[in-house]
Amino acid sequence: MNLVLDRFRNRHFFPTADFIMAHLPEADPIIFDLLKQEADRQNDGLELIASENFVSRAVMQAAGSTLTNKYAEGLPGKRYYGGCQVVDQVEDIARDRAKELFGCDWVNVQPHSGANANASVYLTLMRPGDTFLGLDLAHGGHLTHGSPVNFSGILYKAEYYGVDREGLLAGRIDMNKVREKALSVRPRMISIGASAYSRDFDYAAFREIADEVGAFLWMDMAHTAGLIAAGVLNNPMPHCHIVSTTTHKTLRGPRAGLLLIGKDGENTLGKVAPKSGRVKNWSELFDSSVFPGMQGGPLMHIIAAKAIAFGEALQDDFATYAQQVVTNASVMTEAFLERGYEVVSGGTDNHLALIDLRNKGITGKDAEAALQAADITVNKNMVPYDDQSPFVTSGIRVGTPAMTTRGLGPDEFRQIVALIDQVVTNPTDETVLGNVRSAIHEMTARFPLYDFVTA
Ligand SMILES: Cc1ncc(COP(=O)(O)O)c(C=O)c1O
Repeated sequence: MNLVLDRFRNRHFFPTADFIMAHLPEADPIIFDLLKQEADRQNDGLELIASENFVSRAVMQAAGSTLTNKYAEGLPGKRYYGGCQVVDQVEDIARDRAKELFGCDWVNVQPHSGANANASVYLTLMRPGDTFLGLDLAHGGHLTHGSPVNFSGILYKAEYYGVDREGLLAGRIDMNKVREKALSVRPRMISIGASAYSRDFDYAAFREIADEVGAFLWMDMAHTAGLIAAGVLNNPMPHCHIVSTTTHKTLRGPRAGLLLIGKDGENTLGKVAPKSGRVKNWSELFDSSVFPGMQGGPLMHIIAAKAIAFGEALQDDFATYAQQVVTNASVMTEAFLERGYEVVSGGTDNHLALIDLRNKGITGKDAEAALQAADITVNKNMVPYDDQSPFVTSGIRVGTPAMTTRGLGPDEFRQIVALIDQVVTNPTDETVLGNVRSAIHEMTARFPLYDFVTA
């Protein structure tokens, strides 16, 4: 009896697998076929994009659940829509788990993406035209840290710090230079965080500089959130005024964003509650910047998926996973160095490495294309002081989070570097590409992904 009821419940609350296998082929065979092709691509190929991961079945099922139907503008207990009694509980669980995971006072789990979370940071702390200081995009920073084609570079005045070109700190951030730059440009906000930087950050030193120039300090931990949650990297929470993240990279949740405050307190911008005159807390300002400031209704199915991912990250085996991600990255980096590759900063502290291909006589663009032909997915990436355009680049970025989720360890990552080397040194040799592709398929077959997408 219970079994029947459970099955019934499962079908209605967790329909993803059913939808893909039973409903989609009839309802929309064209999209079904594309989903199947993508499932095969993910299953057969080697995923080394540092910002991607494979979510658990439970996370994927929640993301495809009935909660996609629900509007819930506002926060739990304070919604603008009726019928929120269930989703309120889901969002409260997501918030509680995120707070426990990162040991912080406050979170907002509603940002649809990392870029949206970041937009809410600017909306709260900056006024249009204000100056901020962030990591140069060409040195590993992100579009939302001041790119001229992004709102952050259009609405605000972006100034940059970078990594050293040579010497002891080659490829690394020199905190003395960050301080000099901050003293000269006097930013209202300093941002930390990157998309392609393989070293950890000295948050205490950043905070000292921020305090010296009277700036807010913001960490965008989109790439490293899972490693920070697991205690494998330094913790920004005690040092930063605000922390933002994505939830889908090392944190291994659904595609989305998150905002966090380590220690909440009264805002220093003079913002008060209109009727009582009470000074609002920082958390209230950031909540308002997410909704109604940046977004409309939250994606409740994704918030349910986030709650599940946070629950998974609270388990002991997630810390083991995070440690393995870093071990695999450092093994992979060593293997590149042994084969004569130049690795920016000479190594890695986290889940990724930036490989400078200039001494191999191939651009990032051509390397990416050749590797793709062998079913190895990486992305071309600018290296610091690159002489190629962002569309060509001199490097590739490689990361371990996704394949570590599938169970690959140091032996496989050493073998992967040997295979990448074959492709990079013979990018147009069809025989080599075919042999590498076969070796990749043999490897990925030993570490199956989801059974329901390959059935
Ligand atoms: C450091 C950093 N911040 C923000 C983002 C944006 O995240 P999303 O793609 O979810 O908007 C990324 C994505 O790559 C990132 O690397």
